Amino acid sequence: MLYGIEKLNLANLPTPIEKLEKVSFCLNKNVYIKRDDYTGFEFSGNKIRKLEFSVNEALKKGANHLITCGAMQSNHARATAVVAAKIGLGCTLILKGNERDEVDGNYFLDKLFGAEVVFVSADDYAFRRNEIMENTKEELRKKGLKPYIIPEGASNGIGSLGYINCFEEILIQEKELGIDFDAIVVAVGSGGTYTGLYLGNQLHKSNKEIIGFNVSSTAEHFINRVSELVDETLSLLQGDFKVSKEHINIIDGYVGRGYAISRVEELEFIEKIAQNEGFLLDPVYSGKAFYGLFNEIQNGKLNSFNNILFVHTGGQFGIFPKRSLFEL
Ligand SMILES: Cc1ncc(COP(=O)(O)O)c(C=O)c1O
Repeated sequence: MLYGIEKLNLANLPTPIEKLEKVSFCLNKNVYIKRDDYTGFEFSGNKIRKLEFSVNEALKKGANHLITCGAMQSNHARATAVVAAKIGLGCTLILKGNERDEVDGNYFLDKLFGAEVVFVSADDYAFRRNEIMENTKEELRKKGLKPYIIPEGASNGIGSLGYINCFEEILIQEKELGIDFDAIVVAVGSGGTYTGLYLGNQLHKSNKEIIGFNVSSTAEHFINRVSELVDETLSLLQGDFKVSKEHINIIDGYVGRGYAISRVEELEFIEKIAQNEGFLLDPVYSGKAFYGLFNEIQNGKLNSFNNILFVHTGGQFGIFPKRSLFEL
């Protein structure tokens, strides 16, 4: 229960916080990682925290079928397929791409977990995905099902609650570990994860800097999007909260060649981290964001922060479709 809103208990929580000794030494900072890639549900990462709230809402409304959307290799779509299978719901995924593109990674898992996949073109996805999901909902309703739509990335008010919950978990862990994090850093893909952390920080008057690295589009786009999501999320909470939107801090410059497209330097960084710190970054989200954080610190841009917590949001299956790009 969070501010009067119920959730399902699906994730393995709390997720651990670990110090990255070699990265910390190299950057002369204390850099920690919160292993939200360990939330469980077949490696569902940050998505499962959001789905704990979204799927609870779906069940409360009597739904027996989930509809959502994403890119061909969407972690959110795959996580939704896994949750649907576990709880015994049907699942339809509207994916950008076509069957001949890639059969590896998340798309393979979508099918393995029994989701129905409907492919749409890049243009339809960009401009009509919500309309397509509504049409799918109507078709399923005519067949006697009770469908519920979860928006892209579960990044709406209800999904963002998952990361207010995560923020509260971090506050408890700070006390246990005797550390005061002055910055929390995360990848930004559709904005819900950042929004939850940002709101948690404000609701608890914590004074931490919440830093996002956008992995698509622009920082400006996401500052606006997070601002909308803050309002939407706040409208769900019981209580009268005053929230400032002045500190939405999203750092641009690390999208590279585009969403889910990797540069050589990003892949080399993932390899270096794997071999020196023994954990796996994904190439689409945490790989780009952690590369961004590392570079910003190295370039002296984050000098005022000493205890930095990077939230690893999962997505490691995304590495497999890229295996041929690694020079190993
Ligand atoms: C693995 C992973 N990390 C981070 C993100 C970004 O989270 P959000 O969409 O809430 O901004 C996503 C999804 O977009 C994701 O799949």
